[in-house]
Amino acid sequence: MRTSYCGDVSEALLGQDVTLMGWAHRRRDHGGVIFIDLRDRQGLVQIVCDPDRAEMFKTAEGVRNEFCLQVKGKVRARPAGTENGNLVSGKIEVLCHELTVLNPSVTPPFQLDDENLSETTRLTHRVLDLRRPQMQKNLMLRYRVAMECRKYLDELGFVDIETPMLTKSTPEGARDYLVPSRVHDGQFFALPQSPQLFKQLLMVAGFDRYYQITKCFRDEDLRADRQPEFTQIDIETSFLTEEEIRAMFEGMIRHVFRKAMNVELGDYPVMQYAEAMHRFGSDKPDLRVKLEFTELTDCMKDVDFKVFSGPATTPGGRVVALRVPGGAELSRGDIDAYTEFVKIYGAKGLAWVKVNEVAKGRDGLQSPIVKNLHDAAIAEVLKRTGAQDGDILFFGADKAKIVNDAIGALRLKVGHSDFAKAKGLFEDRWAPLWVVDFPMFEHDDENNRWAAVHHPFTAPKDGHEDLMATDPGQCIAKAYDMVLNGWELGGGSVRIHRADVQAKVFEALNISEDDQRLKFGFLLDALQYGAPPHGGLAFGLDRLVTLMTKAESIRDVIAFPKTQRAQCLLTGAPSMVDEKQLRELHIRLRNAAAATA
Ligand code: AMO
Ligand code: AMP
Repeated sequence: MRTSYCGDVSEALLGQDVTLMGWAHRRRDHGGVIFIDLRDRQGLVQIVCDPDRAEMFKTAEGVRNEFCLQVKGKVRARPAGTENGNLVSGKIEVLCHELTVLNPSVTPPFQLDDENLSETTRLTHRVLDLRRPQMQKNLMLRYRVAMECRKYLDELGFVDIETPMLTKSTPEGARDYLVPSRVHDGQFFALPQSPQLFKQLLMVAGFDRYYQITKCFRDEDLRADRQPEFTQIDIETSFLTEEEIRAMFEGMIRHVFRKAMNVELGDYPVMQYAEAMHRFGSDKPDLRVKLEFTELTDCMKDVDFKVFSGPATTPGGRVVALRVPGGAELSRGDIDAYTEFVKIYGAKGLAWVKVNEVAKGRDGLQSPIVKNLHDAAIAEVLKRTGAQDGDILFFGADKAKIVNDAIGALRLKVGHSDFAKAKGLFEDRWAPLWVVDFPMFEHDDENNRWAAVHHPFTAPKDGHEDLMATDPGQCIAKAYDMVLNGWELGGGSVRIHRADVQAKVFEALNISEDDQRLKFGFLLDALQYGAPPHGGLAFGLDRLVTLMTKAESIRDVIAFPKTQRAQCLLTGAPSMVDEKQLRELHIRLRNAAAATA
């Protein structure tokens, strides 16, 4: 039926007869001649309908946006001066001989090229939204990325093995989506938060190299980079070290960027978790932003300013500065806005110093706080930050977590601003890195216990096994994250393959033997049969493609995503079910009134 995609018709086909299928993107009636921009997944081509062919012309008069059409015609050059450099087909047009309406369309609720659509409109009318060229590009790229991953993995002998969707709770630590069992009254399946335990079982089973591009489900608060169901490129291998695993999958991401985007990723630093927190207050630093923390905790212990000396002398406290070159230009309004911004992260304020003239010491500074700092502290601040005339220094002082979160977020906020771009404080490039040597455990102050930073099957560094009992906070894991432009793209670890080490982890986590059996008994049993040393990682496919397309939200690279409130506006899910279904599932609603509201 079709000889070419609309978007692929180019000068190469000049003079040829073509048959095209597509949708009327726009129709322009120039009194005498009708132009139709015909669109398909490859792009647009201009169709010219002359009144000489009366029947065809009459059909063209009736065409409206989004009609599905068949066009037969001849490719000819556009008249000089009417070319469109933005289109592959921009130098040509198709003189229409025969026009068939394959299916008319009702009037769409919006213009496809309207750039200001609300996301609610877009998600409600997702089918039309997906017709938009940008969305077509995004999903095509997503396919190419997945395909290139498969090729790379296949080449290395990885096998794609499916794992169950109806399963038991996995250890990623988010809330589960549950599925009630009809057959077993009162019992539930959990949808997998990841295939973690199954891929470990596949290693014990001897498959050696596993991968899967698969859905994971987590019921957590949603953000621009999170969906309740999302896709992982999930990988596990036996008999490789941490370094070998990282090299292999750095290779995969480099391969994907090369093949799908023609981009060579350059430098790939490997940074210890401790260094990332120290310099950027974050375990996923955006290295495009050229701003860093300056540690001041040790030199603020004896200043006559409680805001600083308090955290400096309290265990777990931290005081840092963030030097913004050229930032003395920022207005009071800017500073006030940043002060409000850091409060979101729990900061109580945002002390600042404008550096007018370094050489004058205290007298060259403008700030509400310098009066509280003695000369030695001021000298040390200027020396350590390397402050220059015209800079501003921001300060954070609090519990380390609050300082890291607040000043880390401020670093990004300032670093992504137009001001930073104008001052060269933001480098527009691909900035990948590995963050390694994560702690095994973090302290959950609320419940006064230790929690696994990655998951409880992550191996400790060699020689750190005993620290699990003596000083859990100091125990480092064989865990690693890949970060790109400030997003956590993937993460994984070398796993524990020996029962004695696994027991120590459960002890540190205070998980009782009964609980271990109940939750992970099947894995612990399997580990007893000569489990091989193994490890792996998982990448977020949605995140990877979001970064590659520079889309604003992960939702722009998912065909049918959920909203921030975990709903599908297209289908109306989640929705109520009838009483009969509930009864079969042995469920009585606690709040029937809310369910029918
Ligand atoms: P982790 O929980 O770090 O590791 O997840 C791996 C990667 O999946 C992506 N990701 C998400 N993407 C979108 N929406 C979400 N809600 C979401 N949650 C996670 C991120 C993340 O880096 N089983 C381990 C992996 C392993 O150890 O092998 C795991 O799931 O890009
Ligand atoms: P105050 O002594 O409360 O008037 O605060 C003096 C300055 O310190 C103001 O600029 C506050 O914004 C700032 N400030 C207050 N608390 C903190 C904090 N925890 N970290 C950094 N700056 C703070």
